[in-house]
Amino acid sequence: MAKQILVTGGTGFIGSHTVVELQQAGFDVVIVDSLINSKEETVDNIEKITKIRPKFECFDLADREKVHAFFKKYTSIEAIIHFAALKAVGESVHKPLEYYRNNLNALMNLLECMKEYNVKNFVFSSSCTVYGQPDKLPVTETTPRKPAESPYGNTKAVAEDIMRDFTVANADADMKCLALRYFNPIGAHPSALIGESPVGVPNNLVPYITQTAAGIREQLSIFGDDYNTPDGTPIRDYINVVDLAKAHVVAINRLIEKKNKANYEFFNIGTGNGYSVMELVKAFEASTGVKLNYKVVGRRAGDIEKIWADTTYANNELGWKAETPIGETLLSAWNWEKRVRGIK
Ligand code: UFG
Repeated sequence: MAKQILVTGGTGFIGSHTVVELQQAGFDVVIVDSLINSKEETVDNIEKITKIRPKFECFDLADREKVHAFFKKYTSIEAIIHFAALKAVGESVHKPLEYYRNNLNALMNLLECMKEYNVKNFVFSSSCTVYGQPDKLPVTETTPRKPAESPYGNTKAVAEDIMRDFTVANADADMKCLALRYFNPIGAHPSALIGESPVGVPNNLVPYITQTAAGIREQLSIFGDDYNTPDGTPIRDYINVVDLAKAHVVAINRLIEKKNKANYEFFNIGTGNGYSVMELVKAFEASTGVKLNYKVVGRRAGDIEKIWADTTYANNELGWKAETPIGETLLSAWNWEKRVRGIK
């Protein structure tokens, strides 16, 4: 029988792409999502891609009773992939308690239920935000973490510590947690049936680019060109969301097959290549043929200058590698935006 995986936040951007990859790898998926930041029609679109409808339960994981009720109903969960979280960096500065309460209560409720209902495998969405502005680039898994720049970032760092302590306390019960530290996930499924749907004005670069190209935003603001980088704009490691989704399938198999080297592990999930904001804009124009209206404005508060991953450990240890060229990834984001907006 197919192994059953709980995917929290499974109607979200990275979650939905991961559900598709899990189903295509033969897993039976149950999604839990509160739909505060996503839409139920994503379940239909996942089904259109895979021809399999994932099970779907709508509730807030910060509600402990509901999480327990879920595990009483679903008694064959083999592993959990936990995406569901609030994730707006700026908003978290103004609403820190909401971020700590939501993100940490959800995590602790799930870990508590892992123990109570004997689920042994847990994969967590962490972020390269835990590295802050590293002293040395690229960052490896041995690069020290830095104090978080925002409450959102701190929920990721604290979550990692909670998982580490949880696995130490439950070592004899063989409870395993694995954190994937994502760099900058972008792009959409090649079918253009699922992708990124930010609510309101996008905070992130690529949705802002595609919405500008679609005429929904008038102009892209490039936040600063006076950084210490070759063209003065900040550098990030942009990873294709389908490549990222595949890393979760590998992580789940690693835990289920007990190939893990420790009960708590973490990996950098990026491409190993850094692109500046300006390079990304030019790559978008080149791959889509669409000219972007942009202007350089002042720096955005809290932005780091540059970061990209050393992926050697993830590549060797997981046997996983990001493969999609940046142009193809940007084109997929554009195709998704076009489908959503009805642009031919
Ligand atoms: N940028 C612009 N204009 C925009 C939006 C972004 O110039 O309209 C620039 C930013 O200044 C930054 C780069 O594009 O230099 C990337 O910005 P994003 O907001 O897309 O991504 P960030 O690297 O700031 O944030 C991401 C995730 C966060 C995570 C953080 C860790 O979205 O969840 O990485 O560094 F915390």
